[in-house]
This record gives sequence, structure tokens and C-alpha cells, in this order.
Amino acid sequence: MSGHLLHIDHVSKHFGGNVAVSEVSFSVDKKQIFGLIGPNGAGKTTLFNCITGYYPVTSGQIAFNGSSINNRRPDQVCRLGMARTWQRVKPLCSLSVLENVMVGAFASTNSPRKAEAFARDQLTAVGLDDHAGKPAGSLPIGLKKKLELARVLATRPKMLLLDEICGGLNHTETEIILEIIRKLRSSGITIVFIEHDMRAVTSICDRIVVLNSGQKLAEGTPAEITSNPAVIAAYLGGGHNAQD
Ligand SMILES: Nc1ncnc2c1ncn2[C@@H]1O[C@H](COP(=O)(O)OP(=O)(O)O)[C@@H](O)[C@H]1O
Ligand SMILES: [Mg+2]
Repeated sequence: MSGHLLHIDHVSKHFGGNVAVSEVSFSVDKKQIFGLIGPNGAGKTTLFNCITGYYPVTSGQIAFNGSSINNRRPDQVCRLGMARTWQRVKPLCSLSVLENVMVGAFASTNSPRKAEAFARDQLTAVGLDDHAGKPAGSLPIGLKKKLELARVLATRPKMLLLDEICGGLNHTETEIILEIIRKLRSSGITIVFIEHDMRAVTSICDRIVVLNSGQKLAEGTPAEITSNPAVIAAYLGGGHNAQD
């Protein structure tokens, strides 16, 4: 149990007859950047939804920081120190950028003054200071993705689950997000990263799990994964692009 922050043990999720996740096991160590990759429909987002309490698992065990979180609600999981971003960004569009991040900060304080100060720190961390007063809905996608990060950082997470945080971004915007992720890891946050852009995945991840049709196809370092024949056949061989 020593260095593991997240431990997934034979987790399955069925939707009726559709087996979205099947007997998946892996562990994420503290301060790792851990990649979760695989074709569309492989079960990546469903696994995030199970880990963060949005869906009950059909079977299997999920432990975070040494305790079972199988039957926890999303808000409870968040207070334990796990935060996630959404594949489709969901800002509160009519609220300002700052107010969106304050919503996250209220997970750890009831004081509006403290929430605002902490929210402003998170905007600085992701480079959104200049946009604090704008309606969140008015931001272009690249900045909305940064807002997603600031909002979850405001909950003071130990672990961040990022669902295609670079999806829809160009190369430059992706590099900026990757640099922020590296800094977050240096500050002690553990990261699980779902991403299609293999250049991004291999440049940033310490370890990768490949899902295919709900099952774990492979696990290893970026070099092991990119040279694994089964992974190439199922996923990498088709000239896969960043997409949804
Ligand atoms: N709420 C749901 N109800 C029914 N089926 C779902 C639901 N969410 C996901 N699925 C199914 O689970 C499978 C995995 O989907 P998903 O986890 O979104 O894949 P990925 O994120 O890897 O692209 C798909 O077959 C999808 O249709
Ligand atoms: Mg998904």
C-alpha cells in the first residue's frame, strides 16, 4: 500500500448488457503522472466516473489514500482530495471566471474573502489573471480548459483526474497545459491523464494503462507502450489523432 495513492482492483461497470469497464486493475503512485489511453468507447471516462463517485461500480474495489471510496458521493470524494475535469468543459457560463473558481474554493472554506483570495491564486497558477472578471462563457476553448484546471485546483486536490484536458487544443495550447501539469506534479499533486495525443502522453506520463473494449490491454512506461504489438494493433496503428 506504501506509495499508492489510488488502487483500482478488478473494477467492472456494466450498463445493462453493455460492459463498459471489465475487471480493470492498476495502481497510481504518489506524484506520478499516469496516462489512461485507448480508442473512443474504451471505457476511460466511465472509469473516471466510477472512481469519482458519479457511477456505482458493478463490481471491484477502489481505494484512495488507503481507504475504500466505493460508495462515496462525488462531493465526498472531492473533500477526500480527488478532483476531476470533464471531457466537455462545463463552466457556469453566466458567472465570471473568478466566481467559477470560487465555487471550487468553497469546497474547503466558507469564507468568501478566503475563497476569493485562493481562487485568484489558482487563476495565477494557470495564467488566467487577466480574465478574472469576464463571463466564463465568453472564453475561447483554450482558456476554458485552463479555467477547468483552476476550478478543480481550488478544491485543494491531492489527485487530479484530467479527461482530455488537451482535447480541441492546438499544439501551442497543449504545450502550455502540459507545462502547467508538470508544475502541479512538482507541487505534490498526483495526476491521472486521459489523452489521445500520443506525443503529449509519451512526453509527460511516467506510466500508462491502455484500455480497449473496457479491458486493460497493457500497462507500462511510454517506451513499453509505444512498442507493444497489441497496443499498436488495437490503437496506435491506425494513425490515431487527437479527437473525441
Ligand atoms: N451513462 C451511460 N449509459 C450507458 N452506456 C454508457 C454510459 N456511459 C458510457 N457508456 C458506454 O460505455 C462505453 C465506454 O464509454 P466511455 O467511458 O465514454 O469511453 P471513452 O471515454 O474511453 O471514449 C461506451 O460503450 C459507452 O456507450
Ligand atoms: Mg471519454
